[in-house]
Amino acid sequence: MALPTSSVITLHINGEKHTLPVDHRTTLLDALRERLDLTGTKKGCDQGQCGACTVLADGRRTVACLQLAVAAEGREITTIEGVADGGRLHPVQQAFLDLDGYQCGYCTPGQICSAIGMLAEHAAGWPSAASGDVRPAAAAAPLTAEEIRERMSGNLCRCSAYTSIVEAVARAAGADAATAAAVVPAQSGEAVA
Ligand code: FES
Ligand code: FES
Repeated sequence: MALPTSSVITLHINGEKHTLPVDHRTTLLDALRERLDLTGTKKGCDQGQCGACTVLADGRRTVACLQLAVAAEGREITTIEGVADGGRLHPVQQAFLDLDGYQCGYCTPGQICSAIGMLAEHAAGWPSAASGDVRPAAAAAPLTAEEIRERMSGNLCRCSAYTSIVEAVARAAGADAATAAAVVPAQSGEAVA
C-alpha cells in the first residue's frame, strides 16, 4: 500500500491558526508565501544560505526554506507580519526605519526577524564566535559592532547596507533588552545558528 504524500496540518502563525492540506515536501517558506499569502517572508537562495526567509519558531530564528511545513506544526511561528504590536512597530522595525537599515528592502524582513531572535539569544547569555569568553558562567559580551556583525552573519544583503543594519540593531538592542530576555530560554549549550 502506498504511503500518503500529503496531510492536513494546522500551523500557528502570528497568533492565528491556519489549517491546510500540504504535500509533505512543501517547505514552511512556500506554505507561508504560496498557500497563506504571507509574502513578507522572502525567498532568496532557497537553500539556507542567505537568511532572507528567516522567521521565528517558538521565539528562535530559523530559515523557513529549510524547514518542512509539516515539521512546523505545533510551533508558534512569527513572521514579519506579526512582529509589530498592533499599530506600534517593534523596536527593531523602528530602528531599521529610523536609520535606513535597508536599500531595496528585499532582505529586510529576514534581517529584522533575525535581529529579534538574536537579541533574545544575547539577552539569554548565549555567546557568539566573536565573544572573548564563551564559558557558560561568563556574562554575555556587550553587543559591539563586531558582535552584531558575527551574530547577524547568516543574513546577507545584496545592497550591502550592512553599516546601517548594524547601527539599527545596536539601537534596538538598547530598547529591546528587557523584552528579549523573556522570549528565549536560558543558555542550554545548544549551538547558536
Ligand atoms: S531563502 Fe532561505 S536562506 Fe535563503
Ligand atoms: S536592502 Fe537590498 S538586499 Fe538588503
